[in-house]
Amino acid sequence: MEVVVVAQQEDCLPLARSIAGETGLPLWENGAGEADYLLMVTPQGLEVQCRLAPREKPLQLAWLQGTLAYRCKQGGKEQLARAMGKGQPLILDATAGLGQDAFVLACQGYSVTMMERNPLLAALLRDGLQRLAQQAEGQSLALRLKLQAGDSVDYMLANGGGHEVVYLDPMYPQQPRKAAQKKEMRHLRSLLGEEDGGERLLLAALGYANRRVVVKRPSWAPPLPGPSPALTLPGSSTRFDIYLIQG
Ligand SMILES: C[S@@+](CC[C@H](N)C(=O)[O-])C[C@H]1O[C@@H](n2cnc3c(N)ncnc32)[C@H](O)[C@@H]1O
Repeated sequence: MEVVVVAQQEDCLPLARSIAGETGLPLWENGAGEADYLLMVTPQGLEVQCRLAPREKPLQLAWLQGTLAYRCKQGGKEQLARAMGKGQPLILDATAGLGQDAFVLACQGYSVTMMERNPLLAALLRDGLQRLAQQAEGQSLALRLKLQAGDSVDYMLANGGGHEVVYLDPMYPQQPRKAAQKKEMRHLRSLLGEEDGGERLLLAALGYANRRVVVKRPSWAPPLPGPSPALTLPGSSTRFDIYLIQG
């Protein structure tokens, strides 16, 4: 997928240049050419626009809106939070993506370090976090979320466990029967292409986490290859496989 950085207006150009430098994505200064996705730098933050679907609302990380905001206000313990175990362990979200799960965990009081290796998504997450911190109701949540751009497998292999729980949500395998996917996940899949299956993530996480590793899986898919999970929390479309660390 070809992605280019575009400044929506003149005064966004310096930021667009620095994002192009950080992400390694080309910058369009004159608006000409072809690309599948545009990473638009606007005064309201970063947006991803799909050029094949120009009428679709651009993708922006707005955690305090829509379903996520609703889930945040619900208060009851989410299955995702239950999977993290007792207390409020420090969590490394080693596959941060659009930060939705990390945000839900922050709403439930957890401190989460988000790691994301894709530079475009890392840029979106950084922007989403900055905007969250600027909103009155987002400030305390933003304090619980940290972002680290980079490959979490490399990080976990090189560092001792500073986190009690590692959370993994590797891209799902292609569904046997193609079910409707949420817009965000559809774009994520097309931006990232086919990913490795998550086995390396699981092995690195098992060597790094102090207490447990939690893996989100579609309910129809088998566990990740490797050791079997000790526990499973089922849900309607997804489940959480839990691996306990001994000692
Ligand atoms: C399915 S998405 C995660 C969605 C996320 N849980 C959410 O709530 O938005 C998987 C993400 O993991 C990232 N990823 C996969 N392997 C990674 C690795 N080794 N290090 C860091 N990020 C990784 C991919 O780039 C992708 O953005």
